[in-house]
Amino acid sequence: MSIKDPKQLAGSDEDWWRGAVIYQIYPRSFQDDNGDGVGDLAGITRRLPHVASLGVDAIWISPFFVSPMLDYGYDVSDYRDVDPLFGSLHDFEKLIETAHSLGVRVMIDLVLSHTSDQHPWFKQSLSSTDNDKSDWYVWADALPDGSPPNNWLSIFGGSAWQWHSRRCQYYLHNFLSAQPDLNLHQPDVQNELLDVARFWLERGVDGFRLDTINFYFHDQSLRSNPALPKELRNSSIAPSVNPYNYQQHIYDKNQPENLDFLKRLRAVMDEYPCVAAVGEVGDDQRGMEIMAQYTHGDDLMHMCYAFEFLSPTLPTAQRTVDVLTQFTEQASESWACWAFSNHDVVRHTTRWSLSDAAQRCYLQLLLAIKGSVCLYQGEELGLEEAELTYEQLQDPYGIAFWPDFKGRDGCRTPMPWTITAGNDDFSSTESWLPIPAEHRVIAVNQQEQDDTSLLAFYRRMIAIRKRLPVLANGELEHITANGTVLQFMRTNKNSRVLCIFNLSDTSTDMQLPSGKWLADQSSDLSSLDPSQKTTLAPWQVVIAEEQ
Ligand code: BGC
Repeated sequence: MSIKDPKQLAGSDEDWWRGAVIYQIYPRSFQDDNGDGVGDLAGITRRLPHVASLGVDAIWISPFFVSPMLDYGYDVSDYRDVDPLFGSLHDFEKLIETAHSLGVRVMIDLVLSHTSDQHPWFKQSLSSTDNDKSDWYVWADALPDGSPPNNWLSIFGGSAWQWHSRRCQYYLHNFLSAQPDLNLHQPDVQNELLDVARFWLERGVDGFRLDTINFYFHDQSLRSNPALPKELRNSSIAPSVNPYNYQQHIYDKNQPENLDFLKRLRAVMDEYPCVAAVGEVGDDQRGMEIMAQYTHGDDLMHMCYAFEFLSPTLPTAQRTVDVLTQFTEQASESWACWAFSNHDVVRHTTRWSLSDAAQRCYLQLLLAIKGSVCLYQGEELGLEEAELTYEQLQDPYGIAFWPDFKGRDGCRTPMPWTITAGNDDFSSTESWLPIPAEHRVIAVNQQEQDDTSLLAFYRRMIAIRKRLPVLANGELEHITANGTVLQFMRTNKNSRVLCIFNLSDTSTDMQLPSGKWLADQSSDLSSLDPSQKTTLAPWQVVIAEEQ
């Protein structure tokens, strides 16, 4: 029985996801309730009022399913239960009920491309070449010289093929060797995964973040990927020291068969009211094109999660114009979900060396471009990437590439809730990753008391997006970069909103476009007279409605 009561949620419309602000929760690091140093579902439930106070529409919770945790939950060994570390199905019910009563929708992170090697399906699959599940994973013979079947690489380093002595064959893994790739060319695998989605929809989830959605299918003839010319190795999905960037990934992912599976998955979602999915599309060369394919029409995915602003490259005015123009040209019918930070990349405050003023300016930009938005826990506090020693590392990706790439632990340290001598109220015991001293001084309870804090600013800016629906669902037009000044218009049939950003720490003069504009209070402008030159202060933003 579904515990979802759509009427409980304000504006229970099928299109809620268009322009939604989604807050990502990394469950290990949000709030520990049972005192073991690791966050859990009961902890998330306890802290939901904080999330709701931001004014976000939904949460995306990173995986909390049963897992040996080699990739911290992205290696699932039972899709239909909660890992005891995080609680129980009952705790999840409580979480979802509380979220809905606060008007917050719940999206969960389904990892359908691969399982853990501890999943019973894999254990059976590897046992022989002729059991019921022998083709549920991607098995292939060695080349005559014993080497792997082709040149495909794992994102986490080395060949994407792992030898297994029981079957005397290789199996495919795009990530850790403990994360074997499911063979979605096999219809029984597809059916089983659709049932997993149904299982959680029955429990009232409002949607899914679909992990590595473009990795679901591989080329069945196992053709090797061509090399990528050196000058094109400009990656936002893998660090520059990773040879994964040396290939054009045309055979190991992005296969056309995916579209039929995505249609089947969408049909399952459409059996339930007001459900939406955001698919993670990781591809440096064809990201926009794949996003356009996967979100075309209304029988595929609702949105795709874009990597363009997760890259180390600072979105200057020109870079932002380039990304948004590419999006408009290649994916105009699509719906993107943009983010600056998540559990896989260096926090953007550190990645782009942003001052407090710059963070505020970039937040307003993120909330003003066309698409939905994912915020990552702790960015509302302005958390910097934590510096960890090699001994403190947990992430196998960081351990593999240390010290040139330090992995993902630095963005996964626990939330600082309250300044205390110890664990900042995240946990009553030592936490699984340390909370840096610099995070303590900007803990939630410190910022709560200050109207000028970044936390208060996040709340005010999200409220503006709510007040001006054109920012969430209007068209994006007339985008230009003039030096450090980025300007565009958001329009729908009822209103036009002018958005201007001085992406610089120096002031600059500019001429407003003609028209009569009323600046939002946050714009902090004395004059909005198009006949006069206007001086924009460093990092100043103007959000102005046409009168
Ligand atoms: C997730 C990562 C994970 C990988 C493998 C992703 O893109 O965001 O955290 O390691 O998929 O599942």
